[in-house]
Amino acid sequence: MAEVNLLRSLPQTKRNVQKRADAKDPEVVAIAKKFDQEYWDGDRKYGYGGYRYDGRWRSVARDIVAHFKLAKGMRVLDVGCGKGFLVKDLMLECPGLEAFGLDISRYALMHCDKDVVGRLHLGSADSLPFPDGAFECVLSINTIHNLPRPRALVALQEIQRLCAGRAYVQVDSYHTPQEKAAFEDWVLTALFHDYPDAWRKLFAEAGYTGDYYWTIV
Ligand SMILES: C[S@@+](CC[C@H](N)C(=O)[O-])C[C@H]1O[C@@H](n2cnc3c(N)ncnc32)[C@H](O)[C@@H]1O
Repeated sequence: MAEVNLLRSLPQTKRNVQKRADAKDPEVVAIAKKFDQEYWDGDRKYGYGGYRYDGRWRSVARDIVAHFKLAKGMRVLDVGCGKGFLVKDLMLECPGLEAFGLDISRYALMHCDKDVVGRLHLGSADSLPFPDGAFECVLSINTIHNLPRPRALVALQEIQRLCAGRAYVQVDSYHTPQEKAAFEDWVLTALFHDYPDAWRKLFAEAGYTGDYYWTIV
């Protein structure tokens, strides 16, 4: 189990935290939490503000392939895959890799990249419809914090079940009260978030032995 930033090559997103805080109200939050059209391709106040394939995950995929020594014929699952951009880039980076995704958003799956059609499953992270040990590696990036703590725990157990700890989970966190305040201004969908030590406690409770890192606003 290691703390390792596998998203280190992603360009830093410019976040206008004040603008988000000003636009946020219970209705905006409720719409975002549906993970429907508005969240992906609507106004930025609801989420991504338009999410199209631009190759930004390619270098992340390269780092994941190297970190887990992934190779042709191995199976990888991305839990919370959205439109499947990482699934696509993993297969571009490692020809012959069998990459799959799962997401709760029907809209995202219905608007996935055509290269991953048939590889994405509709479902929830806390009930993964695959047999034990079905994957050589499971990833879940910025997804598990969208569940309340008891369900996030089950999601971590599910990930562990599928890949015996060859996994990477990235979740919302903060190191200081200032970072926590910025996060709370920014957050739309997360239901459980905390300092790294509290996340590590959850990992231990779940028996999760994979790698992990934090998304800090
Ligand atoms: C911030 S997006 C991250 C998407 C992608 N992993 C990335 O990093 O670009 C959060 C994702 O979690 C998905 N999601 C939310 N709740 C979920 C659940 N219970 N099970 C699976 N996916 C979920 C959303 O639909 C969305 O795709």
